[in-house]
Amino acid sequence: MNPVRIALIGAGGIVAQAHKPAFLRFPEEIQPVAVADPHLPSAEALATEFGVPFFSNHDEMLAAMAADAVLITTPHFLHAGAAADALRRGLPALVEKPLACTVAELRELEALEKSSGAFVQAGQQQRFGMEENWLKSWLNSPDFGSPRLFNLDIYQNVESYATGKHDPWILDKNRAGGGIVISVAIHILDLLRYWFEDDFVEVFAKGSFDAPLVNGAESSVAATLTMRGGVIGTLNCSYLARRCPYSQRTLLFGTRGSLCQHMEKPGGGYAGAYYTSTDGGKPTPEWNMMYEGWEPVAGRTGQGDSPFVTQLRRFADNVRAKSPAENSLVRNFNTIAVVEAIGRSLITGKPEPVAAR
Ligand SMILES: NC(=O)c1ccc[n+]([C@@H]2O[C@H](COP(=O)([O-])OP(=O)(O)OC[C@H]3O[C@@H](n4cnc5c(N)ncnc54)[C@H](O)[C@@H]3O)[C@@H](O)[C@H]2O)c1
Repeated sequence: MNPVRIALIGAGGIVAQAHKPAFLRFPEEIQPVAVADPHLPSAEALATEFGVPFFSNHDEMLAAMAADAVLITTPHFLHAGAAADALRRGLPALVEKPLACTVAELRELEALEKSSGAFVQAGQQQRFGMEENWLKSWLNSPDFGSPRLFNLDIYQNVESYATGKHDPWILDKNRAGGGIVISVAIHILDLLRYWFEDDFVEVFAKGSFDAPLVNGAESSVAATLTMRGGVIGTLNCSYLARRCPYSQRTLLFGTRGSLCQHMEKPGGGYAGAYYTSTDGGKPTPEWNMMYEGWEPVAGRTGQGDSPFVTQLRRFADNVRAKSPAENSLVRNFNTIAVVEAIGRSLITGKPEPVAAR
């Protein structure tokens, strides 16, 4: 098996943290061939670690180097353009989330996929997590029953994320495409769609717009969302969490069981462990029964690689097979559409429909 030769567009934080380990661990499957980043110190540092050439411009890199695919990890507003450049050269692209900033960009990419025969894959790595995949089966089993309600909280201190970056583009709606929803909440919205095998159809969002975010990027959002199957829920998120006991909390209620991801103690870390509980189909007449039966998901799954590693290896498999990506543009469409609809509702102050494909 020849390794899939991957040209990297963008050499920032996420590549160093998440993708580089995959390249270093599986050289027989994936091979970095060059790095492009206009911030030359970043391009050079990563290229030197890989022992490959670096460029300031991705088009020059793609013209000069033989590659089978590209990995795009630039600021969001450049995703669709870089992916289009790859497709025009017949190269499949794994694009970090968000695949694009708007539904209009997605439609252009879809047309290019058809004319080029290559594909884009959305980098939503949670779909490759061991626990997340165990939970997908559990949530679609009689133990959970039919989904009814979700309650999602996401809190981050954006100041800490932007500090030390040579370009804090994440604060700027013109370059990030929005605020906390497109940059962070997109993960759990996409995961919910994966878990429930459903799409969002309507949103109603209120937000606030505070510094250090600029150009209309939302800093906090409270939203209600509706899925096609009738599941309803709320999303609360803020980028202004200078103090918070946890970053993410997820509560899902089905007709038989519940999923809870929560901190276990104040300061419990990024997100607590997943727990599930079910009534097993039996009557639950006593008050305290609703607190019973909670079991951690950890230990019920095998030990796996980081979801980023699995995602990149699967992408390489897709490139080799020339098959449509598992997390294809079509599958990702509703994720981008719901993010866009939240952004629209923040401006109109009204419920907004989520664009259909
Ligand atoms: N999946 C996740 O959990 C996760 C986590 C963090 C970031 N991300 C995503 O990864 C992407 C990058 O985020 P980051 O944290 O690494 O940001 P970053 O700012 O650290 O890195 C972005 C890099 O892109 C470079 N760049 C700018 N213009 C470019 C161009 N025209 N061509 C090539 N490179 C260019 C910048 O110089 C910078 O080095 C974003 O899409 C972000 O949403 C995903």
